Amino acid sequence: MQWGKRYLMCPPEYFDVTYSINPWMDVDEPVDRDLAARQWGTLKTALEAAGASVEVLPPQPGLPDMVFTANHGVVANRQFVPARLSFDQRQGEPAHTSRWMEEHAFGIVQVATPGPHEGAGDCLPWRQDLFAGYGQRSDRRSWEDVAIKTGWTIHTIHLTDPRFYHIDLVLCPLDDEHAIIAPSGIAREDLPRLLDLIPQPLILTPREELQFMMNSVVVGSTVVMPACSARVRDTLREWGFTVVVVDVSEFLKAGGAVRCLTLALDVELRLP
Ligand code: ARG
Repeated sequence: MQWGKRYLMCPPEYFDVTYSINPWMDVDEPVDRDLAARQWGTLKTALEAAGASVEVLPPQPGLPDMVFTANHGVVANRQFVPARLSFDQRQGEPAHTSRWMEEHAFGIVQVATPGPHEGAGDCLPWRQDLFAGYGQRSDRRSWEDVAIKTGWTIHTIHLTDPRFYHIDLVLCPLDDEHAIIAPSGIAREDLPRLLDLIPQPLILTPREELQFMMNSVVVGSTVVMPACSARVRDTLREWGFTVVVVDVSEFLKAGGAVRCLTLALDVELRLP
């Protein structure tokens, strides 16, 4: 893949589940913050070992989901489009990321959208274009406005399952030919259209979807995953990928895994 060698991550100093905005979040189930810190560190080390560099966004008190940097905005061609998050509890996050982006020479592109759009977590680059989810957290018209303002091509995919509420919970591009797909979250009318575009899809079983195997990060030929079945591992190996599994159990309690904890900074898109 042409991108995926530089990421922004935010340490879990204030990470917690104090509210519930997706079906995975149970405020009665305690988070082990020391374990979360170790898991986060292991993930960062795994990405670096695979050949990526990781930059660190200072965490902020009162924003327990800020660790999920994928939702702070969309990054491409050294431009940052700050997200407009659906829930009040997370709305304070993107401003901190915008400041970091400004300090690191990214251009800030503000788009006055009619509704929410939840950043790269709901808008993944693949083959020079972006694939964005709508119907759960993001509004389709928002992506249309982002596309107009930036000149990027954004294909929208209708998401229908509240458990898989972002595009990074249904799709993981591996390279131009291969992608992991979690079909349960994709609208029936969009699934054939998406599958038509992918010469070699790896379609997860319902059980594999529940382990968030689609929420993985690809660094070159290494796939860093929150879990991996023997079947998925064999297929990925056959395709020339190396699998590294990092346990992110504490973050699954908030409904996020490996991909959600990272924001790729080196995405380059073609402009028409
Ligand atoms: N608790 C967070 C939320 O519900 C988790 C975000 C997961 N992010 C992702 N890109 N899938 O907003």
